[in-house]
Amino acid sequence: MDENINEMIGDFKSYLEYLKGMGINSIPSSWTEPEQPLPSQVLTLKDVQNELGDCKRCKLHQTRRTIVFGEGNEKATLMLIGEGPGYDEDVQGRPFVGRAGQLLTKIIQSINLPREEVYIANIIKCRPPQNRNPEPDEIQSCHPFLMKQISVIQPKIICALGTFSAQTLLKTDIKISALRGKFYDLEGIKVIPTYHPAFLLRNPERKREVWEDMKKIAEWLNNNDKTKEME
Ligand code: URA
Repeated sequence: MDENINEMIGDFKSYLEYLKGMGINSIPSSWTEPEQPLPSQVLTLKDVQNELGDCKRCKLHQTRRTIVFGEGNEKATLMLIGEGPGYDEDVQGRPFVGRAGQLLTKIIQSINLPREEVYIANIIKCRPPQNRNPEPDEIQSCHPFLMKQISVIQPKIICALGTFSAQTLLKTDIKISALRGKFYDLEGIKVIPTYHPAFLLRNPERKREVWEDMKKIAEWLNNNDKTKEME
């Protein structure tokens, strides 16, 4: 044991002499100062919301009443992403609380999930004036925050509700009627587009297709949700 220590001291002396020969006459501060902990990489939804702050990154801040950040289970397996807040959402600061929202709640419950168990967000977080379609610069300003929400939640499946959601998440201009009901990939997360509940209010005969899409989600979750339970 003593021999080992003597050998280590000898090696260390040689190393110091080697440093001296290189013109280094003091011990690097990193040897003597306590290590600083690395900043935590684990973000929470609160962190993302704090970073978003009282967002003025696009023109929608001039007309919105509230930022509709999103709501639900931070550890949700299923995330549903709509287009953007309407009148009721803008007033209440919560996603999907108007007529379309009530239908969405029923759609979620149709696969035996309570609404509180999933996470609901939108492509844009501020209501466009007169509920017009979101514009590209508005989608672009909001997108990094949606992606951060997705990376915090790490859902297994995202259900993209309607054209804007599906086309934005999948970076495509293919029509929702062609996209719906199939599984796609977003950075390792399954994405399944379906019709928007507001579209169903105008076209109730299309509810059957959404029901088919929801059954696919339920089936996929039944077969693949084991990992999240074990985390
Ligand atoms: N429509 C959406 O796309 N999102 C909402 O939050 C409400 C209506």
